[in-house]
Amino acid sequence: MKNYKFQLLSLFGVLLLLSSCGNNNGQNKSSGALNSSAAEKVYVAPGEHDEFYAFMSGGYSGNLTVYGLPSGRMFKEIPVFSQFPTTGYGYSEETKPMFNTSFGFVPADDSHHPDISQTNGELDGRWLFINGNNTPRIARIDLQTFETAEIIEVPNSAGNHSSSFITENTEYVVAGTRFSVPIPQRDIPIKDYKGNFKGALSFISIDPEDGNMEIKFQLMMPGFNYDLSHPGRGKSHGWFFFTTYNTEEANSLLEVNASQNDKDFIAAVNWKKIEEYVTNGGGTKMPSNYAHNVYDEHTHTATSTMKKEVLMVDPTKVPGAVYFLPTPKSPHGVDVDPTGSFIIGNGKLSADLTVHSFDKMIAAIEAKKFDGEAYGIPILKFEDVLAGTLKSGGLGPLHTEFDGKGNAYTTFFISSEVVKWKVGTWEVLDRKPTFYSVGHGMIPGGNSRKPFGKYFVSMNKITKDRYLPTGPELEHSAQLYDISGDKMELIYDFPTHGEPHYAAGIPAELLAPKSKKIYRLDDNKHPDAVLSPDGAKVVRKGNEVHVYMSMIRSHFTPDNIEGIKVGDKVYFHITNHEQDFDVPHGFMMIGQNNSGLLIMPGQTKTSVWEPKQPGVWPFYCTDFCSALHQEMQGYVRVSPASSNIEISWSLDGD
Ligand code: CUA
Repeated sequence: MKNYKFQLLSLFGVLLLLSSCGNNNGQNKSSGALNSSAAEKVYVAPGEHDEFYAFMSGGYSGNLTVYGLPSGRMFKEIPVFSQFPTTGYGYSEETKPMFNTSFGFVPADDSHHPDISQTNGELDGRWLFINGNNTPRIARIDLQTFETAEIIEVPNSAGNHSSSFITENTEYVVAGTRFSVPIPQRDIPIKDYKGNFKGALSFISIDPEDGNMEIKFQLMMPGFNYDLSHPGRGKSHGWFFFTTYNTEEANSLLEVNASQNDKDFIAAVNWKKIEEYVTNGGGTKMPSNYAHNVYDEHTHTATSTMKKEVLMVDPTKVPGAVYFLPTPKSPHGVDVDPTGSFIIGNGKLSADLTVHSFDKMIAAIEAKKFDGEAYGIPILKFEDVLAGTLKSGGLGPLHTEFDGKGNAYTTFFISSEVVKWKVGTWEVLDRKPTFYSVGHGMIPGGNSRKPFGKYFVSMNKITKDRYLPTGPELEHSAQLYDISGDKMELIYDFPTHGEPHYAAGIPAELLAPKSKKIYRLDDNKHPDAVLSPDGAKVVRKGNEVHVYMSMIRSHFTPDNIEGIKVGDKVYFHITNHEQDFDVPHGFMMIGQNNSGLLIMPGQTKTSVWEPKQPGVWPFYCTDFCSALHQEMQGYVRVSPASSNIEISWSLDGD
C-alpha cells in the first residue's frame, strides 16, 4: 500500500514536471506572448466585431487587403492594380479601362503605401489612396463600397515610391519618383545620368466633393532618389517632406556608389507657396501622355481618358519653396509627429535617428543661414535645424509612427525590433523584438494629428519559422503589440497577403456604419442593364451577339439561348436583381478565355465568350446563393458558322 502511494506520487511529480516543461517551451517559443491575458486581448468572440479596420498594401500582389484588429482576421482583398479573377475586375468589359496606361493595358503592379483621407488632420474615412510603384499610378478606393474608384497615371515618374500621402485636409495626394529619369523621356547614354536625369514630385489635387484626382503640378527636382514622404500638419501644414538618397547621382552599383555621402537630404517643400505660384500663372505646360481612369458606380463602368500635358514647376523659380535638410545615412522613412513640430529622418545605414525641428527650420530660412546649394536649391545647416538625436535606438531604422501620447515607435530592420521613445527628450522607453526584419509599422491614425494609440502592427519581411511551412513561399508575417501601457506587449502573429509595405488603420465605428450594402437597381445607369426580366433579350450585330440577362434567386433570364455560331463574340451583360445585402451571384461559361464574374446586388457586369465548337454549352452561378443554387444554370446552343438558325431565347419555354 505504502509503495503504491509512493509510485502514484512520483508519477504525479513527473507529470507536473512534464507539464511545466511544456509551458516553458511554449513561452520561449513565443517570447511570453501566449499567456491568457494576451489571448483575451486578441479574442473577438463569434458574432462580435473588431475594433479597427487595417488596410494593408499587397506589395507585388498589386492589391489591398482589409483586416480586423485585434483579431488579425482578413475580411477582403480589394483589387486595385492587378486583374482579379475572383470578381472579374480587370476582365469584365466595364473594368478593363481601369488598367489603361500610356504603356497600354498594364494588368499588375506593386502597391505600397495606403493613406486614408483626412479633414483637419483627422481621419475622415471617405477614401483611401494607394500607389502603384512600378508603372507609376495612384488609386483612390471608395471606403463606402471598398472598391477602386479611380486610377491616375503619374507621368515623368519611375518607381512611384514616395507616395501616396495626403495633406491634412486632403487637398493633395502626393507622389514622388524613386528613380530619376530623363524628363521628358529620351534616348541618352545611361552614364550621362548626373545632371541630366531629374526627379519629379507630383501634387495631385483631390476634389473635396467627389474625390476626383487631377495632377495640379509637378516639381522638377534634381536627379536624386526620392524614397518616402510625409505631410506637415498643424503648424507645418502647407509643407511636405521627402527623403532622398543617391544624392551622389550614381547610375550603377548603387549599394556602394549611393552610400558615399555621409548625409543625404530631406527635401522640405512649401506646397502652399507653389500652389500660389501656379494659381498666378506660374509653371510651364509640358506635353505629356498619361491615363486617367474613373469608375462610375452608377453606370458600373470605368472610362479612360488620355491626358496630354502637365504643369511643370522649376523649384528655383519659386523663391522660398524648397529647401534641403541634411540628414545622415541614406534616410528611408520621413515621419512628422502629430503636432507637426518634428520631422524624423530614419537613416537606414545608421544606429541613430535624426529629428529636425520645424521651428528651427523656419528660423534658419528667415535668417537665410544656408550651407551652399544643390542645383540652385538652398541647403540648410544640419546643426541649425537639428532638434535632437535618438541614440542607440537599434540598427537600420526605417519608419516611425506615433501614439498621440507623445511617444514614437520606430522599426529597426537590421536589429529586428520596435523601439518606443519619447518625442522631445529622445529617450528610449522600451524595445521589443519582431519576428523578423520589420519594415513598416502602423498605429491606426499614426500619420495624422489624432492617432489611436492602442495597437502597433509590425509588418515583417521575413517569416521563417512563425507558421506551418507552405513550401518555399511563406506569407509575410504581421505582429500585433498592445501599446496601451508603459511597455509594449506582443499579443499576436498573423499572416498577411502579398507584401504589406505600409498599412492604414481606422476605428471601425468611422467606416462600418457607412459601408454600402447594395447597389440600388433603380439607380443603375448601365446602358446595357436589364432593369426588369421583361427587358431580357438576345441581339445579333454581325458577328457580335449581345445577351442582356438578369439574375435573381435562383435563375437566369433567359436560361436557354439558341442561334449562336462558332466565330461569334458573345457579350453577356448581366444584371443582378437582388436588393438584399450579401447576395451576389456569379457567372461562368464553359471554355471562357477570361475570368468569370461576381455581380453584386443591383450591379451590371459584362463578360465576353467566344465559342469554339458546335454543341450545347452550359453556364451557371458560381456563388452559393440559395438552397436552389445548383439549379441556377442555363444552356447556349452553338451551331456551325455556316448555320442559319435564328437567334432565340427563353425561360421556361416563354
Ligand atoms: Cu446565384 Cu448561386
